[in-house]
Amino acid sequence: MEKGKVDALLGIVFGDEGKGKVVDVFTPKYDVVARFAGGPNAGHTIIFDGKKFVLRSIPSGIFATDKVNIIGNGCVLAPDLFMAEAKELEAAGYDLKSRLHISKRAHLILPTHRVLDRAYEAAKGKAKVGTTGKGIGPTYSDKAARIGLRVGDILDGFDAKYAALKARHEQILKDLHYTDYDITEEEKTWLEGVEYMRGFQLTDTEIEINRYLKEGKHVLAEGAQGTMLDIDHGTYPFVSSSSTTSGGVCTGLGIGPRDIGEVFGIFKAYSTRVGSGPFPVELFDETGDKIREIGHEYGAVTGRNRRCGWVDLVALKYAIMINGVTQLVMMKSDVLDGFDTIKACVAYKKDGVVMEDMPFETEGCEAVYKELPGWKEDLSHITDEAQFPQAFKDYIRFLETELETPITILSVGPDRAQTIIRKK
Ligand code: IMP
Repeated sequence: MEKGKVDALLGIVFGDEGKGKVVDVFTPKYDVVARFAGGPNAGHTIIFDGKKFVLRSIPSGIFATDKVNIIGNGCVLAPDLFMAEAKELEAAGYDLKSRLHISKRAHLILPTHRVLDRAYEAAKGKAKVGTTGKGIGPTYSDKAARIGLRVGDILDGFDAKYAALKARHEQILKDLHYTDYDITEEEKTWLEGVEYMRGFQLTDTEIEINRYLKEGKHVLAEGAQGTMLDIDHGTYPFVSSSSTTSGGVCTGLGIGPRDIGEVFGIFKAYSTRVGSGPFPVELFDETGDKIREIGHEYGAVTGRNRRCGWVDLVALKYAIMINGVTQLVMMKSDVLDGFDTIKACVAYKKDGVVMEDMPFETEGCEAVYKELPGWKEDLSHITDEAQFPQAFKDYIRFLETELETPITILSVGPDRAQTIIRKK
């Protein structure tokens, strides 16, 4: 039997590209959907049949009732938030316990990790990362420091391990003079969440995934965040704390690089960023406001305004290279329907020097744009690429030529049905 493959679906800019929708569209082709990095900092929105769900830690394959869903070892999980998310899905009629498998090696986010997240941000003053406040950084720090708690720990001698790590965190908070917090209620719910999680299939998911592949089954690795938020390749230090790239698929699921098949790079027809950090394409004018308003660019997790700008080819080329992207998926093309002209950033400029490659530091870089005609037509009703307006076809061809990668899927609206698969 031919071995199955793991296809990766990755946000390749700053996250919020609409991965949830694409995973949901892709799911019928796969046997397993797996998350490999990140945690409840993600917010994957899925809309179908007039219903809307926002998933944070649970893979987007959960709505297809015959699929296995895996939370891999590279993820971090907050038991209280997981419980709330899972109960909402259970209330909507989805059976999770038989279809959701959680890696024993995934790390746990403690209530005190969230306090530490706030304390570290407060201590940074003006240089704040603008985190989601979900305790992501402190949890991955403890993982790297080899003191973290893992999901498997809840099965054996948990109370003492929890008390020890909590005490360690409390000491750090005391040293930081950050003592004005009260986690009593939060901790109660968190411990209920731990108990609730004990009722799930906590497994060695890396062994399970490799067994599926041997059986010829296909796995979709659902990315979270985006390449420019990757701990190694993002706009450090304004990044998240996990490996959000295709390399992270291998470590975060426990598979070999040769098991990866297609790498789908997902991006929007324009750019957004949440939180702090350099963003050379950011628009501070009414065009930026218009993109935000039409695209509903407000954070799914925090509700914050997303910073908006034109598409950034410097970032996209870099991300395509880092991930080995084989196909591109362009989202939210319809948001640009009303613009007379569309711009694309083709280079950065700093101190008079024009750079086409991603520099070490993007702070202070200005965007150099190429301007293209807008299509000024409603794309949202289009069901076949033959119906695309000529100016939109030209925009696609321009991007494909610049990025040297085919755009095989286009989204023209939030619904599952508003997805166009292009003929190769
Ligand atoms: P953290 O992941 O909460 O530590 O946040 C670090 C940075 O990543 C902040 O700028 C967040 O706004 C950003 N970030 C984290 N998760 C997401 C996401 O799912 N979409 C977009 N930005 C995110």
